[in-house]
Amino acid sequence: MDFFFVTLRVHFYITTMYRTHTCGELRLTDAGKTVTLAGWIQRTRKMGGMTFADLRDRYGITQLVFNDSIDAQLCEKANHLGREYVVQVIGTVNERESKNKNIPTGEIEIIAQELNILNEAQTPPFTIEDNTDGGDDLRMKYRYLDLRRACVRKNLELRHKMAFEVRSYLDSKGFLEVETPVLIGSTPEGARDFVVPSRMNPGQFYALPQSPQTLKQLLMVAGFDRYFQIVKCFRDEDLRADRQPEFTQIDCEMSFVEQEDVISLFEGMAKHLFKTIRGLEITEAFPRMTWHDAMKYYGSDKPDTRFEMKFVELMDIMKGSGFSVFDNAAYIGGICAKGAATYTRKQLDGLTEFVKRPQIGAKGMVYARVEADGTVKSSVDKFYTQEKLQEMKAAFNAEPGDLILILSGDDVMKTRKQLCELRLEMGSQLGLRPKDKFSCLWVIDFPMYEWSEEEGRLMAMHHPFTSPKPEDVPLLDTNPAEVRANAYDMVINGVEVGGGSIRIHDSELQAKIFKILGFTPEKAQEQFGFLMNAFKFGAPPHGGLAYGLDRWVSLFAELDSIRDCIAFPKNNSGRDVMLDAPSRIDQKQLDELYLNIKEINN
Ligand code: AMO
Repeated sequence: MDFFFVTLRVHFYITTMYRTHTCGELRLTDAGKTVTLAGWIQRTRKMGGMTFADLRDRYGITQLVFNDSIDAQLCEKANHLGREYVVQVIGTVNERESKNKNIPTGEIEIIAQELNILNEAQTPPFTIEDNTDGGDDLRMKYRYLDLRRACVRKNLELRHKMAFEVRSYLDSKGFLEVETPVLIGSTPEGARDFVVPSRMNPGQFYALPQSPQTLKQLLMVAGFDRYFQIVKCFRDEDLRADRQPEFTQIDCEMSFVEQEDVISLFEGMAKHLFKTIRGLEITEAFPRMTWHDAMKYYGSDKPDTRFEMKFVELMDIMKGSGFSVFDNAAYIGGICAKGAATYTRKQLDGLTEFVKRPQIGAKGMVYARVEADGTVKSSVDKFYTQEKLQEMKAAFNAEPGDLILILSGDDVMKTRKQLCELRLEMGSQLGLRPKDKFSCLWVIDFPMYEWSEEEGRLMAMHHPFTSPKPEDVPLLDTNPAEVRANAYDMVINGVEVGGGSIRIHDSELQAKIFKILGFTPEKAQEQFGFLMNAFKFGAPPHGGLAYGLDRWVSLFAELDSIRDCIAFPKNNSGRDVMLDAPSRIDQKQLDELYLNIKEINN
């Protein structure tokens, strides 16, 4: 990935008592210099009377040469170097005979005159190279060795650079970085909390923040005007490729703003990151889509807009022709894959199997090909006249060579989500989702509430501090499910990279929202009294947003999982296999905390 070199190629002159240069900086222009390098032995090879060794540090790899005919003893010492030994070498920079165009130091080598072994190393459990033989678990157990691999380290270098650019951008806009506490109180809305028992307050618990949401709002009450923090957040939820139990937010809040102010400032930050990190100048405004349209056309509140393939609803056209699956459906919709009519029966069966997987849950899939002569051939031909099928083709604007895929179901939202999965799968199969192409989008006008089957009540879709759109406030009393929020998410390539809202700054409105969410006034006071009371002391209108730093880095580094841009991530069971955490604590600690462990029945 060339952009890494554009943005991160550094010329350090880190002279210490151990070295004069790094392993990444010497070039042909340095030929003849006597230098001292220090690093790890990546590999050695013996060729005739010469021993070659690759010396590696954070900055690169430099080839060392030990010549038997010049110094047999030194060469013998080099022959005994093991992988990952830590050494210091003094020698002369020399032009290489066979140059390696693949690395920046590939035109030179060091003719060694002195070799000091600083530390021996056990043979590592896997090869420390980009193409390693180590499996996932092994690499996580020895993450400090995994981090020696350039391809992993680069992700963390990129992360550093992005955090640096974030600070520089926000500083230039007058934001103050303020640290907020990590031991706070539990807030039951949202994901599950991680809790920490308090020894000094027996039987009581702190919670780790799911985000510093309420604290940043209090900073606005305190008059800080513009706050940010690059901050660890903790959520006890099921893990996915873009979720970790502890992750990092770029958390921001501003006073005296409306939605437009927040969107414009953070769109500016996104553009700043695209420019400084990926070298992409984006001049036009990011498109905006209402939540309603995102669900209607993409079945998702985070649509991947790198490709079109919008949903077309077919209830009017396809219902009532005697095909009972469609006749009984609450939703029939489809997508049109351009040029995919060549899909074989086997490929189509594969797609049907895909949508029938338990995680997706569709009952089946109907397909229709547009033939070269414009006629439509479908898997349900016996129920539909060619005229009807042409009507359907027109609804998609389909052309000869296109493939139409249709799903139906008795639950509109569920079926749209299934169609969303099918759309993404088709996008991937047709190569429409390249990692080096970026499509940014604001999703706006989220509903305030969503119904929770589990809780049997309305829940805040964003969080309970989000303000309703002023024009929808009357609906709070009559039809709260229809109320739209002043909330917005930024989505890039189908990944929610950030979200925020304009907050409620009025204690009475906040109390009303808690009531709709099913809190008694006492419970609301107990849990959020600190915030509602603060609002009585002159709270400015305020709003903000939090970006997910891990997600931004993994998008820019073109990774499949955010794990790869976190130095010490958790595995899918939420474990740190290197530290063997979480783990049991001893009885003495439990006693100090007044805790008993219930019998665990596995
Ligand atoms: P939200 O819950 O949308 O908003 O989180 C903001 C952003 O944080 C990232 N994110 C995650 N990244 C990795 N692993 C996770 N488990 C995880 N959960 C969230 C996402 C998300 O968009 N306080 C509000 C923000 C605000 O209103 O200002 C909040 O936390 O990129």
